[in-house]
Amino acid sequence: MRVVIVGGTSGIGLATAVRLAAGGAEVVVTGRSRERVQAALKQLGDQASGQAVDACDTDAMRALFAGLGAIDHLVVTVTRRGGGGPLSTLTRDGLLDAVEGKLAPHLLTAQAALDVLAPEGSITFVTAASAGAPFPGIAALAAVNGAIEAAVPGLAVELAPIRVNAVSPGVIDTEWWSEAGDAARAAFFEAAAASSPAGRVGTPDDVAAAIEYAVRNTFVTGTVLTVDGGGRLKK
Ligand SMILES: NC(=O)c1ccc[n+]([C@@H]2O[C@H](COP(=O)([O-])OP(=O)(O)OC[C@H]3O[C@@H](n4cnc5c(N)ncnc54)[C@H](OP(=O)(O)O)[C@@H]3O)[C@@H](O)[C@H]2O)c1
Repeated sequence: MRVVIVGGTSGIGLATAVRLAAGGAEVVVTGRSRERVQAALKQLGDQASGQAVDACDTDAMRALFAGLGAIDHLVVTVTRRGGGGPLSTLTRDGLLDAVEGKLAPHLLTAQAALDVLAPEGSITFVTAASAGAPFPGIAALAAVNGAIEAAVPGLAVELAPIRVNAVSPGVIDTEWWSEAGDAARAAFFEAAAASSPAGRVGTPDDVAAAIEYAVRNTFVTGTVLTVDGGGRLKK
């Protein structure tokens, strides 16, 4: 089984690569930073390979897949950090940045992989539980993630027998939060854990387990799997 994880050098993508490689898969991880690709490969061992490619560069992604040849499964995790904040502060540039950094590379990476993806294979997108939750201050991010989730059922029919799913994480302790700074990040995680029925924030492997399920279970398609510790619910 050969799996390409676009955004596989950190956080949820790297945890997915670790899991799938441990289960015997040949994994190919990508990210923009060559150093992070190399660091990930040290962790992943002989079955893994990787390339530094920006998923927002559709031509480069087409060249990547043409060079790789046949693959069985595709996982896409990439995102940018912009576009957060209340509606009153949202700018056109911020909104388009969120679209260009997540919605566009998710759908266009899937398109770029179609020629090499096995008919019995799968595509798994990584969205966000905020898409369906009443959280203030994230309308643009919720809209972008909701747009990917909205595409899943139709793509599962359009691309069948290729399966198409999304995994929708809640608050997960990854590098994504590093820009907030250590103190703000710790305070946010503490508050998120306190308001979550699970009583904690998630680990990258919590989400990777759901991605592995979507990849391996041949009867799962057109589905959005929420992995958020119940954080979208009022406790
Ligand atoms: N962490 C959370 O609490 C949380 C919650 C809900 C949803 N999510 C979603 O989960 C997904 C993964 O997030 P994460 O928390 O695992 O983040 P992360 O630790 O920052 O990992 C992101 C990965 O994507 C790569 N990447 C980003 N932009 C890319 C691009 N344009 N082209 C190629 N690779 C790119 C990064 O490598 P380079 O930087 O080297 O490119 C890295 O490998 C995201 O879509 C995020 O929205 C996360």
